[in-house]
Amino acid sequence: MKSFDFMIEFSLIGFCLFNAISCQQKVTTSIDRIKSAGFKEEVHKVTTLDGYVLTLFRIVTSSNNKPKVQRQHPVLIQHGLMSNSDCFLVDGDGLAFVLARDNWDVWLGNIRGNYYSREHTRISPNGTEFWNYSWHEMGQRDITAMVNYILGNTGKARLNYIGHSMGTTMFYVMASTMPSYNKKINTMISLAPASRMTKWDFVSNNTTFFYQLVHDELMKYILQKRVEAFPRGEIKGMSKHQVSIEDLDALYFKASFGLINWLVKVLTGDDIFPDGTSLRTLLHYTQNIGAGTFQRFDYGSGVRNMLAWGTEYPLPYKLNKIQAPVAVYYAVGDEFSSEKDSEYLISKLPNVVLKMRISALRFSHADFCFTTAPENLSERRRMHTSIKNLLRQRDDIKKVCQNKKNCDAKS
Ligand SMILES: *[C@@H]1O[C@H](CO)[C@@H](O)[C@H](O)[C@H]1NC(C)=O
Ligand SMILES: *[C@@H]1O[C@H](CO)[C@@H](O)[C@H](O)[C@H]1NC(C)=O
Ligand SMILES: *[C@@H]1O[C@H](CO)[C@@H](O)[C@H](O)[C@H]1NC(C)=O
Ligand SMILES: *[C@@H]1O[C@H](CO)[C@@H](O)[C@H](O)[C@H]1NC(C)=O
Ligand SMILES: *[C@@H]1O[C@H](CO)[C@@H](O)[C@H](O)[C@H]1NC(C)=O
Repeated sequence: MKSFDFMIEFSLIGFCLFNAISCQQKVTTSIDRIKSAGFKEEVHKVTTLDGYVLTLFRIVTSSNNKPKVQRQHPVLIQHGLMSNSDCFLVDGDGLAFVLARDNWDVWLGNIRGNYYSREHTRISPNGTEFWNYSWHEMGQRDITAMVNYILGNTGKARLNYIGHSMGTTMFYVMASTMPSYNKKINTMISLAPASRMTKWDFVSNNTTFFYQLVHDELMKYILQKRVEAFPRGEIKGMSKHQVSIEDLDALYFKASFGLINWLVKVLTGDDIFPDGTSLRTLLHYTQNIGAGTFQRFDYGSGVRNMLAWGTEYPLPYKLNKIQAPVAVYYAVGDEFSSEKDSEYLISKLPNVVLKMRISALRFSHADFCFTTAPENLSERRRMHTSIKNLLRQRDDIKKVCQNKKNCDAKS
């Protein structure tokens, strides 16, 4: 184990020297990426009801932002856990560019706590209070704020939502607990969906050794008030409440995160993964894996759960409440979202409009964002073509409400 750790450190150092830059390199921002792909960008700041200030990027497809083909519904693309909008802007074949070239009005979300959205109107991200959230709050506060902002800005009645991994989790939270939002969605596209997660056989329940190991490790950092996990680039070291890969105590975490971080740097040229989130977000996923269900955060005591949820135990989210039309893309080679769980999800969702099963085993969780194996590019192109066709087809469906005013009057 020790020598493995040494190897990781060594390869990190090697990578930095090789690039003649320090590991605290200046990041290539979403704006840089949009510009180098030949587009212009717009930056929008959205404030959530609980005061978080989020950054939305919009890809401007023509000088007056009136695309050549008039589309009915904008597209919001939402990244997953410990990630950010850059994920869809890697190389020329990122999904955001593919859709912009197809004349879609593309918006890229950034969730509270990451590099682009480490901001609040009242509290400082350098303190602990800022990091007191998980994907439940992100779904109910961040996704709703972004959806409302885009509809307000464009005057459209509905938008298309594309989520990757936690980008789907947050959507399911919103759509199952705040039913009125289903009407604001034309099509929801789930890439590598994450709801119930039962793939990891070595975590059959919350009493197993591996569960305890991960759970106790996360709790340790939370008790030490190190509640900001894996800040990116120049944000590292800003606050004493952070945990970076370098200062993880447990060797197995340090080694695996270090390796993934290094691989992603090689593949994308930057620290796209991991990017900042709260320790509580990681704990919430861990709890769900241990419980084998898609459920609310467990505060650890009946009294605290009662205060937060009105029940002694955290209740599962009701997938059958999600009325929005959903398309599901999953891969059998995905290390995190299994075929079994994706099929379970599909069986529970009341309004599934398309399912695509990607069978190439090399196609992983990250391939929904950027290419990890050039030999599997054809799978990626097939997925992009399918997404474009689906969006076009569903955009053309003539609906009673063509614009917001009209729609509000009729509903
Ligand atoms: C986090 O939020 C919960 C629920 O709102 C609250 O009970 C708890 O005191 C908060 N913790 C911190 C450290 O702010
Ligand atoms: C939890 O999983 C372990 C290992 O698979 C098993 O032996 C044990 O019976 C399970 N406990 C419960 C409560 O299901
Ligand atoms: C494990 O799950 C059971 C049943 O859901 C729950 O009562 C218990 O508090 C959980 N234990 C831990 C350590 O999370
Ligand atoms: C957080 O701390 C850093 C370093 O002390 C400082 O540069 C930054 O302005 C602080 N941020 C806020 C929002 O207070
Ligand atoms: C994907 O890559 C693997 C490994 O290189 C290869 O065996 C497989 O045929 C590829 N799949 C497709 C559909 O190109």
